[in-house]
Order: sequence, then C-alpha cells, then structure tokens
Amino acid sequence: MYTQLEQRGMPEPPVNVSTLRKMKQDGEPIACLTAYDASYAALVDAAGTDLVLVGDSLGMVIQGHDTTVPVTVDDIVYHCRNVARGLRRAFLVADMPFMSYTKPGIALDNAVRLMQEGGAMMVKLEGGDDQVDIVEHLARHDIPVCAHLGLKPQSVHKIGGFKVQGREPDKAKEMRTAAKRLQDAGADIVLLECVPNEVGKLITSALDVPVIGIGAGPDVNGQILVLYDVLDITQGRTPKFVKNYQSGFTSPLAAVQAYVQEVKAGDYPAPEHCFS
Ligand code: KIV
Repeated sequence: MYTQLEQRGMPEPPVNVSTLRKMKQDGEPIACLTAYDASYAALVDAAGTDLVLVGDSLGMVIQGHDTTVPVTVDDIVYHCRNVARGLRRAFLVADMPFMSYTKPGIALDNAVRLMQEGGAMMVKLEGGDDQVDIVEHLARHDIPVCAHLGLKPQSVHKIGGFKVQGREPDKAKEMRTAAKRLQDAGADIVLLECVPNEVGKLITSALDVPVIGIGAGPDVNGQILVLYDVLDITQGRTPKFVKNYQSGFTSPLAAVQAYVQEVKAGDYPAPEHCFS
C-alpha cells in the first residue's frame, strides 16, 4: 500500500525530502533544473537530475513576457501536470506565482491546487520574514515548502531590476535571519538566487535543510538553472551564473548529463559564474 512511489520501474527509488536532506548531510551536491513539459521532464530525469522545478520563469521562456509577474496558478498547474507525467525519479517542485500566497488561507488553497491538480510534491514561494506565517500555515498542513530568498524575481518592479542581493553586511545578516526563521517555520528547502558566494556559504552552514543556489556560489548544497539557459535556447543576454552546456554536445540529453555531472563533481559553478 505504501510502495506506489517506489514502483515506477526505475532502478533507483524516487527522490523525496529525506533523500535531499541526506544528500546535504553526506555532502552530495543536488542537481536541479527547471522543466515545463513532459518531453523535457523525461529528458532531465533520464540525465539524473535530482529535483525539477516548474518555475514561474515559464512566464519568460515559454510565454515571452519580460518578467514572471503575469504567470497565474492555472499556468503553473497546467505545466506542472505535464512535467509530472514525464518524471520518474526526480522530485517535483512547483512555483507559487505572484500574489498567490498573500494570506495563509489563499496560499493553502493554491498550494493544494498545485499538488492535487499539478502533481507537485513541494511548493516554492518567494519570501523573507513576511512569509513566515504563510510557511508555518502550509507546513502545519503537511505541504512541503521551498523558501526562495536573495533576488526575488516577483519583486522586480519594487527592486528596480534583477540585481545581486545581500552585498551589504546588514542585508546579508537579515537574509540569514530570515532563512533561519523560514526553516524553523517548516521550510524544507531554501533557494538562494543571485547572492555573493560568502552569503551562500553563510546561510548554508547556518541551516539544517538543503540550500539550493542559482548564482549563489559553490558552497551551497545544490545548484539549479533554467533549462533553456543550459540548452542555449534563451536569446539575448543571460545572467553571469548561466553556463551554456549545449556547446560541445550533440544532443540535449548529453548537454544536461554534462550539467548534472559538473554539479555532482563540484565543477559548476566556476569562479566566472559567481558573485563577490
Ligand atoms: O522560476 C524559476 O525558474 C526559478 C529559478 C530561477 C530558481 O525560480
């Protein structure tokens, strides 16, 4: 009765929150990517990706918007459902879009949709101290949560652009305190975007839960990138932390395998992908 999750015909059991925590304890880097459809989901899963995020970056890479702000819960549910069908081993996380978690009750209703209709195993929300009560409410209802700190793309219009966060010592300390409070409120993972290496290291060593970085340096517990950046599909300027794995490889699968191997070996991110 309890074995369905382990009977998907894969030699390795599916990743779950305990697997991710153990990987942190054992010092095994966690390789993560975004995906938005079943075909790419199957590909990143086959390449050995541990965690797949249906990110609201789909607003940009799928829908062609300039920001993630226009993405709706219905959009994430639709893409998440498709991604879920493509995965066998990887752990599936879904983004809570802009304004979908303004109050604990609203957050719970939307998180339930992402899990029941979308098949997500965890939800991710952008937050700091102000989201502690939301995380607490979700955790009390056994909803696994990833708390996204550092650069929060949903706040782009308030911040005035996509900028590195936490460079000032007081801001770094504030972020560390928020991360700890979110963990204590029940967050199972913290994701750090665009912070100096030192901040990534500080927060990772302060927390028991895994810390996944995107532009957060090499000292976090795992790395995530937007799949379309890895495969060099994204046109125009990409952020400093992006590495194009498509060059030198003849297939998207080989490119994603190279990314996973480099994360596992600690070869990605290199100094040129990091902020100081
Ligand atoms: O939406 C997204 O793809 C994300 C990643 C950039 C972490 O939040």
